[in-house]
Amino acid sequence: MSEPIRFYFQNALREVNGVATTQTILQHLREDLHCTGTKEGCAEGDCGACTVVVGSLENGELALKAVNSCIQFTPTLDGKALFTVEDLQLPDGRLHPVQQALVECHGSQCGFCTPGFAMSLWGMYLKQEGQTPSRCQIDDALSGNLCRCTGYRPIIDAAVRMTELPHAEFDRAAVADALRGLQRAAGATYEHEGRSFHAPRTLDELVALRASHPQALILAGSTDVGLWVTKQMRELNDIIYLGHVAELKTVAQAGDMLEIGAGVTLQDAYAALCAHYPDELKELWQRFASLPIRNAGTLGGNVANGSPIGDSMPWLIALGARLVLRGGGGERELALEDFYLGYQQKDLRADEVVRALRVPLPRAGLRFRTYKLAKRFDQDISAVCAAFVLTLDGGAVKEARIAFGGMAATPKRAAAAESVLTGRAWDEAALVEAMAALAQDYQPLSDMRASSAYRLKTAQNLLRRFWLETRLENPLPQDAVNAFAALA
Ligand SMILES: Cc1cc2nc3c(=O)[nH]c(=O)nc-3n(C[C@H](O)[C@H](O)[C@H](O)COP(=O)(O)OP(=O)(O)OC[C@H]3O[C@@H](n4cnc5c(N)ncnc54)[C@H](O)[C@@H]3O)c2cc1C
Ligand code: FES
Ligand code: FES
Repeated sequence: MSEPIRFYFQNALREVNGVATTQTILQHLREDLHCTGTKEGCAEGDCGACTVVVGSLENGELALKAVNSCIQFTPTLDGKALFTVEDLQLPDGRLHPVQQALVECHGSQCGFCTPGFAMSLWGMYLKQEGQTPSRCQIDDALSGNLCRCTGYRPIIDAAVRMTELPHAEFDRAAVADALRGLQRAAGATYEHEGRSFHAPRTLDELVALRASHPQALILAGSTDVGLWVTKQMRELNDIIYLGHVAELKTVAQAGDMLEIGAGVTLQDAYAALCAHYPDELKELWQRFASLPIRNAGTLGGNVANGSPIGDSMPWLIALGARLVLRGGGGERELALEDFYLGYQQKDLRADEVVRALRVPLPRAGLRFRTYKLAKRFDQDISAVCAAFVLTLDGGAVKEARIAFGGMAATPKRAAAAESVLTGRAWDEAALVEAMAALAQDYQPLSDMRASSAYRLKTAQNLLRRFWLETRLENPLPQDAVNAFAALA
């Protein structure tokens, strides 16, 4: 039986039937609700013109997150709250401080991108609770909003100004109460024109659905899948959505591993990981897509998609992360690197889902760095993504694990360079040999992001940078090797 999609919108419960299972929230807003404040720029999660804030209950508390409505499907709203630029105006008709600040600071120039900026700023406003944000917090909150007329300065001014204006309260309790009334005890299926959108609530329900619908597409944060619909115009058949399975959203320490559920968002996963690897992962966290993409996308989706240019796989493989798969016959665990069999080929059976990742925690003698090379700091896909992990015993390399993205058809280890380093002193002679060995390990492609020669050269140079940062004598600090750290 098809259940309607029920969500909280403009202080009321909204029930939806009769829309495609892959209708985007943006389409629903503009075409069905005629809320045209939210704009379509790119329809691929890149520009931020479509930014909305979605509220959901996480451990019983209301969580409010800016996301890109152009790549989220309407049925994912079930049990959630949707806020758009139309919600900002205060009940007495005055502008919200976010809007007032944009006006005062001349932050709205073209006007088209402004609703998206306003919603990203509102997302930050709710978090800041009256505190003035730092420049880094502002940059991060706006990392998914493009201003093509290069007017960032007044928008950044507005991000500060909004916290100086009289505070506007937001009634979280009322929204949380409304959402409590919308939660379903068991999984639900929404159907339209013969296509189903299944939303299980428990892992057991998910596994049973997977077994009975092996052809259905698993949907997590939709930051890859959304584009299959909006850019590749693919017709998706049945979908199994993971977003309501609480067991997939846990982060827990298990022995010397951190176990991260496949449904944990990229933002939460990197926050948890950075508590253990702050120097090693902080920059990648900030440079992974944008905040709205990280608020929706999951670490499990990044790994399951397994793009050769994805950012998490190189460092996960280099650290020795393990993947936990769950299917009808129970669980199995494998090294993440063994999951990738070839271009877009994975060791994932038809009845299986990725349940969790197990990431080794820091240990004695570990030297670890990961580097992303892309044309922009924020919101860009890597041309090359490198990860280096050495376990040192005194001055010698006990174990070397090197993995790259962007250098082969899958995220791949550098067996030849690793074998050069293993058992050697971590000195410049070993480094130079290992740099040369990378040419045996990889024959990268040329494409629109980079040429083959660029990729190989920069991969070798990144190994040198790693050595400069981790050599035994006179290791260089971040700001000596990293232009971004130096600027900060
Ligand atoms: C604007 C933009 C910027 C981006 N920037 C980056 C970037 O900087 N670095 C980067 O690495 N990626 C980037 N991406 C890609 C994307 O955000 C990530 O790959 C993300 O982690 C995907 O997760 P998801 O939850 O959204 O997956 P979805 O889109 O929901 O799913 C992706 C794939 O994984 C499968 N899947 C998902 N979860 C599971 C599971 N638990 N079990 C089995 N299969 C599963 C799905 O069936 C699908 O095939 C970007 C995307 C966009 C749109
Ligand atoms: S329309 Fe550009 S991010 Fe959605
Ligand atoms: S203000 Fe809209 S693109 Fe710059």
